[in-house]
Parts: sequence; structure tokens; C-alpha cells
Amino acid sequence: MPVRDGALPAALADRLDRLRSAEPYKVGFPGWSTPMPEALLPFFSHELNNYGDPDGDPVFPWHTKDLEREVIDQVAEMFGARLDSRWGMVTVGSGEAILYGLWHARQRFPHACVFHSTAAHPSVLRAAALLRMPAVAVPTDGRGELDYAALRSRCARTPGSAAVVVATVGTTLTEAVDDVPRIRAVLADAGVTDQYLHVDAALAGMPIALASGCPPSFGLHNQGGDSLSISGHKFLGTPFPTGLLLARSGPLPTAVPGSTLCGAPDGTSSSRNGHAALLLWYHLRRHGAGGLRRMALRCQAVAEYAARRLSAAGWPAWRAHRYALTVVFRTPPPAVLDRWPMPAVGEISHIVCTPGVTHERIDRFVAAVRAAS
Ligand SMILES: Cc1ncc(COP(=O)(O)O)c(C=O)c1O
Repeated sequence: MPVRDGALPAALADRLDRLRSAEPYKVGFPGWSTPMPEALLPFFSHELNNYGDPDGDPVFPWHTKDLEREVIDQVAEMFGARLDSRWGMVTVGSGEAILYGLWHARQRFPHACVFHSTAAHPSVLRAAALLRMPAVAVPTDGRGELDYAALRSRCARTPGSAAVVVATVGTTLTEAVDDVPRIRAVLADAGVTDQYLHVDAALAGMPIALASGCPPSFGLHNQGGDSLSISGHKFLGTPFPTGLLLARSGPLPTAVPGSTLCGAPDGTSSSRNGHAALLLWYHLRRHGAGGLRRMALRCQAVAEYAARRLSAAGWPAWRAHRYALTVVFRTPPPAVLDRWPMPAVGEISHIVCTPGVTHERIDRFVAAVRAAS
């Protein structure tokens, strides 16, 4: 069937209906939806290609690399990175940002093992495998936080004086937070002199930093991470996957034969999404640090409400820490899961109270759990 200009093909109209009717039941995953600001719509009729490494502009004007640099600067500031050495870029998502973080690590310590907890996101293992870095899984406690004694013994057993650790600040299932300064102390105690810490802060990095005070203990400073990754489509709510890689310093010069065909050196990356940087820039400017902080506190209050309401309804629920947006509980019956999609790992499920989740939505979810139990 040909598609006519201006008319929505039936297959897409059905899809839009399905999307709209799924929206009120969205609690199980950390993305959320918000209307696209009308002022931004004209940009979506233009190509925006942030070609090349983040520091230089291409010769063509259809990019937003200046906005990208502002986004990186603002978020790096929030995490305490030094102005004169900080580096970063907008990525496809946290998965790609973790890959770049581990690439930085491998540049510095080419033979080091990557230590990560068993609750780390699969993208950590994937990145280590792509970079051919050996990976060592370290157990966690019952809630998903790294077991520091186990990290120490794994490090002591691994030859060499260098180690790369990926700390998770907000594990995917329970939002458990690994203690970054404690990891540094454990590594020093195990005789690791060359340390590289990447902080996977996909969902929780921003809301925790905003609510607990910037820079947070896991920020980009001496006791914190060397690099840090965040997703743009989770707490910040871009309608397509995006991410940020932030680092205390840039990558080392590589043997990759970059070119300047488009004006900007491309030793690190070539075409990248300019609309992602535009939306992130707009979102940060529109809300400002104060607005984002209020948003984080509101989300945390909704999560606290959800845990209380579920527990009161006879379905015990908990949060890993007081800033958590994630509420964890025993997996509800299939009748609930059919309507309210969410992960079910073993017998554990969760909801994530990102800014789109309202008290009203929580009330309907709790009513559904109560009716099915
Ligand atoms: C802790 C953690 N790290 C990494 C990722 C991957 O993020 P993205 O979907 O932005 O690639 C996720 C996704 O849920 C996550 O929870």
C-alpha cells in the first residue's frame, strides 16, 4: 500500500493507538513520555549530525556540537569534574557510554581485569568482551550492592597491580548503589596501585546527585570515578535512547587513523545524533538545576508512596535507599503483568517512579495488585 503525504497509514495509526493506550500502565521500566515542545518540532525537519569527536565542529552547519559541549559541561560540573580537563560526549545510550568508559580504562591499563558485580548491567560484560578485556564477576549482598570483602579477595588473587572496576550506581533491578570511595579504599588495601573506576549511573546518578548534593561521592573527583555514564531517556526523558559519557580527562591519542574529511577529527566517533544533544540541552535549560532537583524529589516521594501503598495492600515492597526511584516487590500474578509490563527476575519485580509516574497511576497499579492477589 503506498503511503500518501499527510495521511497516517493504517498500520501506523494502529500503532499510535496501541502506544497511547499503553501509556497509563507504564511503570515497569525507567523511560517515560512527555509531549515534544512545539518550539522544537521544526528541528525534526532538518538533519542534525554531530559528526566527529566532541571537541571540534564539522565544516557544515547542520550539527549541535556546541550544545553538546554545553550539556557535557553542565552535567560534568554537577558531578565535580575539573573544568580544565573534563571530557565527554552524547552517546546512543548508557551501553555505548560504558563501552567508551572501558575503552578509556584499557588505554591507560591495557592488561587490567574488569571487576564488576553480578548485578551489573549486561552491557558491562558486553563492552569488556568487545574490548577483549578479561572480566571478573564479584558477588553482591541480598539487595544487589557489591560485596567489598569479595572484591578485595578477587583483586588479591588477580596478578598485576592494575584494576578496572565498574561500580553500579543504581543496579537495574533493585537500584542498589555501590560505594565508590569504599571501592577505592579496598583496591588500595589489596595493593592495586593503578586504578580506573567507571561509574555506571544509568538511571540513578542524576536523581541521587540532585537530591543528596553535588558533587556526589561517586562523582568525577579523586575519591570518585574516572568516568561516568548516564542514560538520557531514563530520568531525563528523551523520547529515543540517548546517553552521556563523562570523564575526568579525554582519551589518550590512539593509533586509529582518524580523518578530518568533515572538518572535525573523527578518531573517537563519526556520525552522532544531533537531535539528542538538542533535546538534552533544552531539557537542562528549561528545568535548570533547581527544577531538576524538584523533579528528583517528587519522583522519590512517589516511590516512597508506592512502597507504602503496596505494603499496606499486603504486597510488601522496599527501596534500596532513601533516594531510590525503584520500588521492589515479589512478582505480581500474570493478570497484573499482562496489563502492567515489568521485569520478572526470579521472583522479583519492580516499578520505577520516573517523572511520568503519578500518584494516580500508583493508585491504579496498587488496586490491580490487590484485586489479583
Ligand atoms: C545500571 C544500568 N546500566 C546500563 C544500562 C543500559 O542503558 P541503556 O539502555 O541506556 O543503554 C541500564 C539499562 O537499564 C542500566 O539499568
